[in-house]
This record gives sequence, C-alpha cells and structure tokens, in this order.
Amino acid sequence: MKIISCVHLHKNYVSPKVTTFVLKDINLDIHSGDFCGITGPSGSGKTTLLYTMSGLEKPTSGEVFLFEKEVAQYEPKQMAAIRKTKIGFVFQFYNLIPNLNAYENVKLAQIIAEKNDDPEIDRILGLVGMKEFKEYFPNELSGGMQQRIAIARSLINDPEIIFADEPTGNLDQKNGQEIMGILKMLNRDQHKTIVLVTHSEDNLKYCTRHVKLTDGKIIRDEELPV
Ligand SMILES: Nc1ncnc2c1ncn2[C@@H]1O[C@H](COP(=O)(O)OP(=O)(O)OP(=O)(O)O)[C@@H](O)[C@H]1O
Ligand SMILES: [Mg+2]
Repeated sequence: MKIISCVHLHKNYVSPKVTTFVLKDINLDIHSGDFCGITGPSGSGKTTLLYTMSGLEKPTSGEVFLFEKEVAQYEPKQMAAIRKTKIGFVFQFYNLIPNLNAYENVKLAQIIAEKNDDPEIDRILGLVGMKEFKEYFPNELSGGMQQRIAIARSLINDPEIIFADEPTGNLDQKNGQEIMGILKMLNRDQHKTIVLVTHSEDNLKYCTRHVKLTDGKIIRDEELPV
C-alpha cells in the first residue's frame, strides 16, 4: 500500500521581500513497511519535505496523499486525530517536557489522544530499554536516553508511520547507532513505516530505501539491500 504519496509537490516559503523555492516537483511514493532514509545537503529541503509529507506544512502546489487520501481533503479534526494516533514524530533535540519525568512525558501523549493505559506505557518503555528510568527527569538522562523516551512517546498510540528528523544528529556514534538499532527493530518487528531524515550516509545501512535530495529535487530514489 502507498501510505504516503507526493505528486508534483512544490513548496515555497513566501515573505514580503523574498520567495524561497524549496521543494521542486517532488514525486515520491512511500510504501507501508518502508524504512526510507532521506539525505541531502543542508538546505536541500529535507525537513520541509518531512513536514509537508506529514501534513504539518501545506504544499504550495501539487498533492500529498496520506493514508490514501489527499491531506487537503481531511477535515481539521480528522487531521488532528491522525497526528495524535496514526503518525509519530521524533526530532533532533528530543523536545521532552523538562518538568515531567520519563513516564509522564510518554503519558502526556496518551492523554492528548484521550487514552489511558498505564501497562502500555511500561511495555513501550521496555521496548526502548528505558523501563528502569521511568522516574528520571530529562536533565537526569543522557542524550541517547532522552531520545529513547522521545521514541517511546512517538510510539505510545501505536502509529503506523514514524517521522524522524535527524534523530541521531545530536548524539555520539555509539548512542546514534543504538537509536538507529531501535528504529530498525520498530520497522522490522513492529511493522512501523519509518521516514528518516539524516545527514549520515552511514545510517542508510538500517534503511530499506534511500531518497536523496539536492536543491529541492529528488536526484536518487533506490531500494537498499536489507
Ligand atoms: N519556515 C521557513 N520560512 C522560510 N524559509 C524556510 C523555512 N523553513 C525552511 N526554509 C528555507 O528552506 C530551505 C530548506 O530548508 P530545510 O530546513 O527544509 O532544509 P534541510 O535540508 O532540512 O536542511 P538541514 O540539513 O540544515 O536541516 C532553506 O533555504 C531554508 O532556509
Ligand atoms: Mg533539516
């Protein structure tokens, strides 16, 4: 199933003085079960593509289909429900809430989705290897541990797609590899579709697919050997 499709997608940012043409005629299908690594130089439009594919940004022209329906056709309420339960996000700087502990950070995402399932929080914390640290606050955890909590938060409502923007960008080699290992496990064993933006060509060894952007255009789109 094509879980995401971009069709002749263009995205410009317009300010009074200047229009920046960021994405230029992107045509891309992501299939259910893909682990798609998006690479490209700084400023090539990777984050913009991720945000547009996930409905956080609107296309300037062209279409984005998410779960087989054009994003522009979703009612705002439907889109909000998708954001809460069908897609998850992981960012470079974790974006945890500093005055909530690890458990509460994950719990909050559950509350927002109007769910209440404490055993599931324990299960997900176990999955990312953080069960023993659930009472720790973000500033008591290493970067790698904070990112595990951010991944747990993204997973708690059992999304079909995880969008990750440079999740290892702020981590050393060892922690970065561990985070990539968790994403790989989620793709392989939990059947999550993953769209990963990364600067590191090395991270592509975990991916099933590679899309390379340069200057807002796709210059490579290939399956990778698993
Ligand atoms: N909200 C915005 N308003 C105006 N211009 C923007 C905005 N967001 C991004 N841009 C511009 O769009 C271009 C692409 O930015 P984007 O963040 O998508 O690149 P990137 O490939 O993710 O880069 P990096 O590797 O540095 O994260 C850049 O020229 C950037 O300055
Ligand atoms: Mg970026």
